[in-house]
Amino acid sequence: MARKRIILALAKGRIFNDTLVLLKRSGISIKKIDKKSRELIFELDGLTILSCKPSDVPKYVELGAADCGIVGSDCITESQCDIYEPLSLNFGHCRMIVAIKKNQKFEFKAGKEIKIATKYPNIASEYFKKKKMIPEIIYLNGSVELAPLIGLSDVIVDITETGETIRKNSLKIIDTIMNISAKFIVNKTSYRILTKDIQSLSDSIKKNGL
Ligand code: PRP
Repeated sequence: MARKRIILALAKGRIFNDTLVLLKRSGISIKKIDKKSRELIFELDGLTILSCKPSDVPKYVELGAADCGIVGSDCITESQCDIYEPLSLNFGHCRMIVAIKKNQKFEFKAGKEIKIATKYPNIASEYFKKKKMIPEIIYLNGSVELAPLIGLSDVIVDITETGETIRKNSLKIIDTIMNISAKFIVNKTSYRILTKDIQSLSDSIKKNGL
């Protein structure tokens, strides 16, 4: 019986270049992956690559559309998907933070309503509920830093890497919710059916990406 090809979902965007470097170092020929192409599926030796929006990668893996994935832990936590997370990788490092306007004062007050602009509604709600506050989420798809500047929200919950966007927009960080890195994730059923193949992919990634 022919060996099943492993389907690997990759997050386009911030971590895509480092992911390709990792695959290359792990002995996978990535020549067929054209970063500029609008193609979404690439057939490599023994591996099918899906090029996905980062926030969709955990869903593809949970539903079995992909056997494995490489994506930031921000997207994994936000998705609340039921998947294995066997490997943390040594790239894609950043932080999930809470920020406000630089000249503003802020107090965590139990029972107080708070407007939060974010691409991460689950993480943001959970964080402020733990602080016993009443979160109102303003879901935005990007440029979240704008929201407090124009009075759309009290705070933002977002990722920061260099801190440049926060600085350039006169905001300040008041707390770190979590540290983030890229992770290798696996569908639970695929892991049972394709144990040997997934283990061997995971081992070569582990050798080269930790
Ligand atoms: C992310 C994030 C911040 C920025 C932080 O946005 O949402 O806006 O990067 O990076 P920095 O700390 O290095 O400045 P992204 O570039 O993904 O675009 P977006 O604002 O459209 O989401």
